[in-house]
Amino acid sequence: MKNISLLMTFASMSGGCGRASTETDVAPYLDEDQPLDIRVEDALSRMTLEEKVALLHAQSKFSSAGVPRLGIPEVWCTDGPHGIRAEVLWDEWEQAGWTNDSCTAFPALTCLAATWNPEMSALYGKSVGEEARYREKDVLLGPGVNIYRMPLNGRNFEYMGEDPFLSSRMVVPYVRGVQANGVAACVKHFALNNQETNRQQVNVVVDDRALREIYLPAFRAAVEEGKAWAVMGSYNRYKGEFCCHNHYLLNEILKGEWNFDGVVISDWGGVHDTKQAIENGLDMEFGSWTDGLTWGASNAYDNYYLARPYLELLRSGEASEATLDDKARRVLRLIFRTAMNRRKPFGSLNSPEHIAAARRIAGEGMVLLKNDNGVLPFDMSQLKTIAVIGENAVKMMTVGGGSSSLKVHHECTPLEGIRAAVGNRVKVLYERGYVGDVTTSYNGVDSGQDLADSRTSGQLLADAVAAARQADAVLFVGGLNKSDYQDCEGADRREYGLPYGQDAVIEALAAANPRLAVVFVSGNAVAMPWIDRVPAVLEAWFSGSEAGNALADVVFGAVNPSGKLPFTFPVRLEDNGAIAMGEFPGDDTVTYREGLFVGYRWHEARQIAPLFAFGHGLSYTTFDVSDVRSDRASLSAKGRIRISAEVTNTGDMAGAEVVQLYIGDEESSLPRPVKELKGFRKVFLAPGEHQTVTFDITPDLLQYYDDTKAAWVAEPGAFTAYVGTASDNICGTVGFTLE
Ligand code: BGC
Repeated sequence: MKNISLLMTFASMSGGCGRASTETDVAPYLDEDQPLDIRVEDALSRMTLEEKVALLHAQSKFSSAGVPRLGIPEVWCTDGPHGIRAEVLWDEWEQAGWTNDSCTAFPALTCLAATWNPEMSALYGKSVGEEARYREKDVLLGPGVNIYRMPLNGRNFEYMGEDPFLSSRMVVPYVRGVQANGVAACVKHFALNNQETNRQQVNVVVDDRALREIYLPAFRAAVEEGKAWAVMGSYNRYKGEFCCHNHYLLNEILKGEWNFDGVVISDWGGVHDTKQAIENGLDMEFGSWTDGLTWGASNAYDNYYLARPYLELLRSGEASEATLDDKARRVLRLIFRTAMNRRKPFGSLNSPEHIAAARRIAGEGMVLLKNDNGVLPFDMSQLKTIAVIGENAVKMMTVGGGSSSLKVHHECTPLEGIRAAVGNRVKVLYERGYVGDVTTSYNGVDSGQDLADSRTSGQLLADAVAAARQADAVLFVGGLNKSDYQDCEGADRREYGLPYGQDAVIEALAAANPRLAVVFVSGNAVAMPWIDRVPAVLEAWFSGSEAGNALADVVFGAVNPSGKLPFTFPVRLEDNGAIAMGEFPGDDTVTYREGLFVGYRWHEARQIAPLFAFGHGLSYTTFDVSDVRSDRASLSAKGRIRISAEVTNTGDMAGAEVVQLYIGDEESSLPRPVKELKGFRKVFLAPGEHQTVTFDITPDLLQYYDDTKAAWVAEPGAFTAYVGTASDNICGTVGFTLE
């Protein structure tokens, strides 16, 4: 704006024709040199009641109106969170048919969380933010940080795992990276949206400790540290109120305690009542189908709860203008931060950097669960023939799964990645082994694949076994997919076991060839009844555009796996706390009876050994973590204690280890988990290299939420610091006291 002001001053000085102009001709709301609040107040002072209300609800599936008269632009939202969704029609979910809206698919957030590397989160946020910016979006509907409560939730793949500390550390750089592009991150789904079954009505009953200690910290970190500009309410209810207009969650906690100055956006169709939407903290309404209007009714938007019905209450004096102004201020703030931010960069789409970022994050997130006899990596120089078996080796996974479904610029499947890596050095045999789901389209986007196969299941299996027998090594690529009742929005999984008879295929392959590696493409834990007969298992997640290349990097050793599980894999479904307590899926109500004992907290309290523990993940090299020590024996209320450990790469390949710090409270008036993650560092080491890792513990890391006092309390007494490479692989402990 500076230049315009200068030009005007010059025009008035030089006595040209027309009226004399001064600096004040530039309205403060248009002047980017003015503080945000001055711009907001100025814009607000110029707006009519109708214009304010128009800011607060959708005008199309993904946009809301600005203030055309004042040159204040529209707000355009997009899903989120793994890439930028293709354009849909103004009033419909169907595709708009644009040809310039194909994006880079980044790995699913479970994979990002599995990197245990905040730098990967920053890279992810920056990259996906650049794509959003290039596509001229103002709000990215993501990331999702609902806690992984049990392995059946169809949307777990869009979230960052079971631990509040891990998800908090990983969400902050994502939010900052996105917002550096002048695009708002909209952190979702606030809160307690931990299942898809009955998601539109289920009322979650959870105690205050679990709410505060488990389910809210990642949202809080995104708001307080990440400075997120938007938060999305969830569909479900809490304390009997829908979370999109929930007084306690939105007014008291989010806007009150956490001082959130951004916009609360409803989930699409998550608003149910005008008065509650007005009073209980909602700012923008999207996706409603009100008054019996169906999809695409052209005037549906005027009938939104926060549209004409709101205006009527304002005009009759039943709704206050002060509340309206608070909402309008928030939306204006959002617009100045995004759509009207002339200093934001221009972004980029499908750049080589984004494709490289997708591949790097995917490779770093893959988790080597088991690797007996060093089966992986496959040594290309020793292989003549490799058999790749399984539907997920060929099925494109970026299409499907619900709102995170993408139209991609390209997707490299596992089979393509393996073929590209071996070139003509190794013969690749491919066999499907089973037929799972041949769906290739979602919401009008089609991957263009033809997955039909007319063979009987017996024939498919026989063909797979024959290929495995001929090969020097076998890579089975299976798991779940993005269809209904798998890893997909709108419904939960129906079984913990692998679908489509994959267990039988894996058993047969294990019997046919001992050099077998099983790869899962999934966003959830699965049962592995054959685990003792399979030497190597790799969790590869839904890893986006570069899935196949990233998998080949790991399978052939170009990338040494360093991912760690962001959630527990139980042996049996009943070993999970929520399931054991009989609290899934619930009907009208679901009570989180396991309380704060979610994931490894449950397994450790009940002494139930997991199949693979939270934090577990192997490498092709070996690490030694030793000499766990502290610099003092106690800390005061304002002090800190430093825990150190030595980590050495004792193998012969460069690699990374994630050193994890857990803390256990040995003397507490309230029940506490055996131990909880309170620090982690990913350390990259050459063979023989060694590094000292340090963690500073301050009393805030020792706190629990005292529900009787409604306060966070660090209770004096004895604590234990556990340092290890997984929640079930502790290399050393040290005790200390809080004075
Ligand atoms: C999902 C949100 C999504 C929105 C818009 C809803 O059904 O729950 O996560 O952002 O749709 O597509």
